[in-house]
Amino acid sequence: MPKKLFNINKAIALAPMEKVTDISFRLLCKKFGADIVYTEFINAEGLIRNSIKSKKKMTFFPDERPIGIQLYGALDSSMEKAAKLAEELQPDLIDINAGCWVRNVVGQGAGAGLLKDLKNLYKIVNTVVKAVDLPVTVKTRLGWDEKSIEIIETAKIIQEAGAQALTIHCRTRSQAHDGTPDYKWISQVKNAVSIPIIVNGGITTPQIARDVFLSTGCDGIMIARGAINNPFIFKEIKYFMETGTLLPPPSLPERVNLLIEHLKYSVEFKGERRACLEIRKHYSGYLCDAPNISKLRMKLMGFTEAPPIIETLLDYQNHRLQFEESDDQPH
Ligand SMILES: Cc1cc2nc3c(=O)[nH]c(=O)nc-3n(C[C@H](O)[C@H](O)[C@H](O)COP(=O)(O)O)c2cc1C
Repeated sequence: MPKKLFNINKAIALAPMEKVTDISFRLLCKKFGADIVYTEFINAEGLIRNSIKSKKKMTFFPDERPIGIQLYGALDSSMEKAAKLAEELQPDLIDINAGCWVRNVVGQGAGAGLLKDLKNLYKIVNTVVKAVDLPVTVKTRLGWDEKSIEIIETAKIIQEAGAQALTIHCRTRSQAHDGTPDYKWISQVKNAVSIPIIVNGGITTPQIARDVFLSTGCDGIMIARGAINNPFIFKEIKYFMETGTLLPPPSLPERVNLLIEHLKYSVEFKGERRACLEIRKHYSGYLCDAPNISKLRMKLMGFTEAPPIIETLLDYQNHRLQFEESDDQPH
């Protein structure tokens, strides 16, 4: 008998995101109020071949709980073995990816490819449920394309297979990450199944978050791109839901401090050089409204060690570092 899933009640989850939701980013989002976090998706075949990269992605810290390890694969036998390996780390749940749109994943019949073979989706979920004592959940999409939205049938199959919660990215596979999410299916899904439903897709502001909760009756919401460079969003949503008023946007010093904290976590978990290279993709986002951002970014890009990055950021924040006036527009 698998363990019962923790209570999902108006939870705000950080979505699994490859190359984004590593330990450092998950810890930041947790600090700002993410109620559930997930690892990046992990290839079941890689894991059972003992791939170091796949194993590393499963690592997490107790402070991150509740955390889900997300797996993807097309074969029930591989998913069974991979789930048992993931279980050794005792996450709070194992999540099965049935939504990834990327061609090489779908081409193997995994991710959203499972939406083309619901029998296999059932088999995979049921096999994993029987293989581990942990709660198993699924993340999927509305359907393959707008002509084949079968989310109600799919949700019933997933529940019958033994999954204890379902996240629905309210876009189809053919929409990839673009296009307007269609939340209207969720209330019908809620009527059709009893497991908790988490809604994902396009939730980027506190107002949208509240509207999604109210209009769908969902048990939780999940944020992906809205959290990149803005881990404050979890706090912003909770504050808005409690008070009906918006928090002021984070100030530049708050953003600079967050960037430094992100870098420090990253150095701790990945090593200095890798952390300094990977943090580069976050400069524009965290410093989005900073004056002279291009010049600042250019200076920061020259460093591959953490101390000069931190010093430059602090000098900038404390006005010790001045750039000549430029045409930079905040963006
Ligand atoms: C960079 C990036 C990586 C992603 N990686 C994963 C992943 O590993 N597993 C997964 O289930 N979804 C993944 N997704 C999809 C997101 O979890 C989410 O379903 C999608 O971005 C829609 O949510 P949003 O509109 O809030 O961004 C990824 C999305 C992005 C942008």
